[in-house]
This record gives sequence, structure tokens and C-alpha cells, in this order.
Amino acid sequence: MNKLILIVLSLTILSLTSANAAIYKGQRIFVKKCLKCHDEGQNFINQYKMKKWKKWMKKKGKPLAELHLKNKKAKKSWKYFKSRRYTKKSKHLRQFLVEYAKDSGNVPACN
Ligand code: HEC
Repeated sequence: MNKLILIVLSLTILSLTSANAAIYKGQRIFVKKCLKCHDEGQNFINQYKMKKWKKWMKKKGKPLAELHLKNKKAKKSWKYFKSRRYTKKSKHLRQFLVEYAKDSGNVPACN
């Protein structure tokens, strides 16, 4: 096989798996951090469109954090939303949420 084809092929596989890895990481964050309050899980994500999730998750998830910090009912999440861990990992979470938004056409695998 042509060397170039091989290189292109392996690059494609690499980028595909890293996108999946980010979604997987995002899913883990969601299960660990969000599910206790938003226990509809998949249906919760599914009720909003991609555009909405993107808006909430822009600037490293700042709008989403602020929305919770303003709401007393979400008090238990404040520590997390203020943490650096949240901003640092927000892009994984974003990718996961957008991936399973209402208009994405995807359904999360049960694993
Ligand atoms: C301690 C509980 C708690 C945790 C943890 C939590 N939330 Fe929330 N969230 C809330 C509350 C309370 C609201 C306000 C909704 C309401 O008033 O009914 C809210 C609102 C939202 C909204 C806005 C819904 C709307 O229609 O305006 C989104 C989106 C959201 N949360 C996503 C998340 C994500 C993603 C996570 C995980 C990173 C998360 N939440 C973690 C309690 C929580």
C-alpha cells in the first residue's frame, strides 16, 4: 500500500478515537457531577438543541456555571462549578452534551 495512504489512514483513526475519548470523558463527568440532580440523564440532554448546549458551554462553560451559581436550589453544585477542574474539563463535557443534543441524531450507548 502507498505510504501516504497509510499515513492518512492512521491519522484519521487517531483523530476519530480522540474525539470518542473526549465524549467518553464528558460522559463520565456528566454521570459523576450532573446526574445526581439531573437524573433524567439522557432525556435531560436530549431536550436541548446543540446550539443551546454550545451557548451554555462557551467560555469554558461559564454560562452554565453562572446559571447554577445564581440558583440556590443548585447550591450543592457550587463547589464544583467554581472549581478549576470544571473549567479545565469543560471541553470534554461540551463535546458530550453537544453530541447527544436533541438535533444531533445520536443516542448514547448504554455502557
Ligand atoms: C446540586 C444540583 C445540581 C447539579 C450537581 C447540577 N445541576 Fe444543573 N441545575 C440545577 C438546578 C436546581 C437548576 C435550575 C433548574 C430549575 O430551576 O428547575 C439547574 C439548571 C440546569 C440547566 C438549565 C436548564 C434550563 O432549562 O434552563 C442546565 C442546562 C443544567 N442545569 C445542566 C447541568 C450540567 C451539565 C451539570 C453538570 C456539570 C449540572 N447541571 C449539575 C441543579 C444542579
